[in-house]
Amino acid sequence: MATSIETQQMLGTTLADRIGNTPLVRLDRLTAELPGITMLGKAEWMNPGGSVKDRAASGIVGAALERGLLGGGKHLLDATSGNTGIAYAMLGAAWGFPVTLCVPSNVSPERKRILGAYGANVMWTDPADGSDGAIRKARELAKDTKSYFYADQYGNDENWRAHYRGTANNPGTANEIWKQTDGQVTHFVAGLGTSGTFVGTTRRLKELNPCIQCVSMQPDSPFNGFEGLKHMATAIVPPIYDPGLADRDIAMETEAAYAMAKRLGRIEGLLVGVSAAGATAAGLRIAEEEHAQGREAVIVVILCDGAEKYLSERFWEE
Ligand SMILES: Cc1ncc(COP(=O)(O)O)c(C=O)c1O
Repeated sequence: MATSIETQQMLGTTLADRIGNTPLVRLDRLTAELPGITMLGKAEWMNPGGSVKDRAASGIVGAALERGLLGGGKHLLDATSGNTGIAYAMLGAAWGFPVTLCVPSNVSPERKRILGAYGANVMWTDPADGSDGAIRKARELAKDTKSYFYADQYGNDENWRAHYRGTANNPGTANEIWKQTDGQVTHFVAGLGTSGTFVGTTRRLKELNPCIQCVSMQPDSPFNGFEGLKHMATAIVPPIYDPGLADRDIAMETEAAYAMAKRLGRIEGLLVGVSAAGATAAGLRIAEEEHAQGREAVIVVILCDGAEKYLSERFWEE
């Protein structure tokens, strides 16, 4: 009879078990005119917090708990444009530590509501200062080391390591992609925010096969519609960013990402966020070039989150 407490504790999954190991979805309609090209989207919205940032947040929090940096009522503190904050807030609620976040006040209303629903404390910063204003505010608060553990996603190596080698609960983004494509991946594409996803995944993929082309995508201007992404030439450059790592960098127009978000909804049945759509548009450019050169390719794109948090944006109706 399976009635002992021990057996009961084995039942079900924990929140941490559900982070990572996301599916790779085929984007066959997008490449219908490009025989020999396979495009695959890593469905990061399947993480419990709804984005790729669950990976970095759980890596950062797990390491901090292990080292005794968090606990005893200390607040986890960080600057975030939304998704990392949602991941921290979710983990704080589940694992029992308070969370304080510095967030630009122009993030979508859906994000604000989600942060509130998880019970996080939020310090709203001036939207004109973008994510850099939130970083400056967090750095100021972080001086109070008795009250705060400053998670510093932009400078914390646990961020990119979560994609490089994973955490206790998952093998990490790169190892998953390698296994899910039977080692056939030829191109990897991801947007740059903190750069953790791109840096960690690229470092590991290059170890597995140095020929894999790793392509970063960033907004083509400092004023853009990509929540969570950085225009590196004009932003505070994240200390974990390695500009020498990418085989290529694609500057993406917001309008092209909007158009791709609508297209993915209508022809693939996939509702993704603006950064995910921008990365897909970059992947499709590579697909067209490879096809024009008569080459076959297996292109993996990070679909960092779903569309739910962006549905109030007007472009869907335009
Ligand atoms: C929607 C979205 N896309 C992409 C990213 C970038 O991920 P990373 O910080 O790993 O570069 C973020 C980061 O916050 C994000 O919120």
